[in-house]
Amino acid sequence: MSELTERILLYIEQHGDVDTLDLVPIFGEDHQKIIGGVKSIESTSAELINTTPATRKTWELTEEGRQILANGSHEATVFNAVPEAGISQADLMKISPNAKVGFSKAMSNGWILMDKSGGAPVIKRKVADIVDTVKTHLEAIASGKSDVVPDNVKNEYKKRKILVESVTKSFVLSKGPEFSTSLKKLETDLTVEMLASGIWKDLKFKPYNFDALGVPPERGQLHPLMKVRSEFRQIFLEMGFSEMPTNNFVESCFWNFDALFVPQQHPARDQQDTFFVSHPQLSNKFPVALLDAVKKSHESGTDGSIGYRYDWKLEEAQKNVLRTHTTGDSARMLYKIAHQAGGFKPIKYFSIDKVFRNETLDATHLAEFHQVEGVVADYGITLGDLIGTFNAFFNKLGITELEYKPTFNPYTEPSMEIFCFHPGLQRWIEVGNSGVFRPEMLRPLGVPEGVNVIAWGLSLERPTMIKYGLNNIRDLIGPKVDLKMVQEGPLCRMNR
Ligand code: PHE
Repeated sequence: MSELTERILLYIEQHGDVDTLDLVPIFGEDHQKIIGGVKSIESTSAELINTTPATRKTWELTEEGRQILANGSHEATVFNAVPEAGISQADLMKISPNAKVGFSKAMSNGWILMDKSGGAPVIKRKVADIVDTVKTHLEAIASGKSDVVPDNVKNEYKKRKILVESVTKSFVLSKGPEFSTSLKKLETDLTVEMLASGIWKDLKFKPYNFDALGVPPERGQLHPLMKVRSEFRQIFLEMGFSEMPTNNFVESCFWNFDALFVPQQHPARDQQDTFFVSHPQLSNKFPVALLDAVKKSHESGTDGSIGYRYDWKLEEAQKNVLRTHTTGDSARMLYKIAHQAGGFKPIKYFSIDKVFRNETLDATHLAEFHQVEGVVADYGITLGDLIGTFNAFFNKLGITELEYKPTFNPYTEPSMEIFCFHPGLQRWIEVGNSGVFRPEMLRPLGVPEGVNVIAWGLSLERPTMIKYGLNNIRDLIGPKVDLKMVQEGPLCRMNR
């Protein structure tokens, strides 16, 4: 570039004003590069050269024009295809797709004629030789010498769609007030030495560029999951819910399963479905009265239930697992409020936190996900309250079409899967699981009779994937996540 800037300055010195487009054939450089050179001269000093914007029309060959340049004009092709003895028009038309145009041009040029003397008309040559002017013209234009072709001819070629006119922007360069053929490096810093010695008076300083874009500041970015989480949290808070503590990824089987009336032989408690923790392998601190009440509920039931009728074992309940849901935290919370000073009071709680399952990994399943958990405890509430709460909750998410399907959970009766219609995907998708907690679970926790508890669990990942248009869970979580997606991902706003 430095060499190019000097060549430009030298050219102006020797030849005076010049259009940057004219420098293209002289320097054998591309126009963009020459403009780059001009810009760098200007950035060194605004006074070195004057630049005046100019536009120039240039002629360029179309695809058809380039074919003619290579093979000759359509009329020449037709002429060349006519043998000494002549040819029928029908046969002549078969020589090229452009034979029809070529034929009429060759006729009007007087190169060929139609001989009807022998009965059926025959096309014959009228002249011995031709000059393919069209091709010659295109050759001139292609080599940048379009001036040799008269304007009316170029316009005719434009009509024939073998030329197009395009407008190129350029600059006319001339000497500026402080013209020189060499670029002096401008000072960028005013130093103590310059001031002390007084040389600053003779130095040239580079002007400030106030249009320069700053370097984008590095900053943390919220992951889409966290953005959707804060929207969910906002909705719960608007609906009067409080957040539960869930700061325990490691949970005892007791709270994760037993306190929820999940029998000790339940398949969910299998190694296949649950991660068991080896260090520490067992939990020890449980309220003794609660242990007894849970044991009794499993073995022989409560409130008229006959229980599961098996030998409940403490060792099984002591095993530590990575919690498979946050419903154990809800149970702990219910136990706490049932035993608080002043006794039970109605509550509405939620939490959004990680849970772990021993899943086969695929496009929609990982071994961990976030569970959105809700629990409401009050006197006399029913399944109708559960449905009403969902309708209100999902309405705030912008989801208005909901369907419920009966299902089974060891700890709820009745239980419902929640489906919503996804307008983007045009189908019903399962968004969560819910139900009314069973007395066999509630009574041992100390929740008084007459109090019903409705609860539900959703995943945070599914709505996030839908919101952000991701089809593979691995694009959302894990080592394959595109950080750009995180950085440039928009804010999450639910259509409320
Ligand atoms: N714990 C359930 C799950 O993991 C969700 C749920 C919570 C169901 C509360 C009913 C009541 O799917």
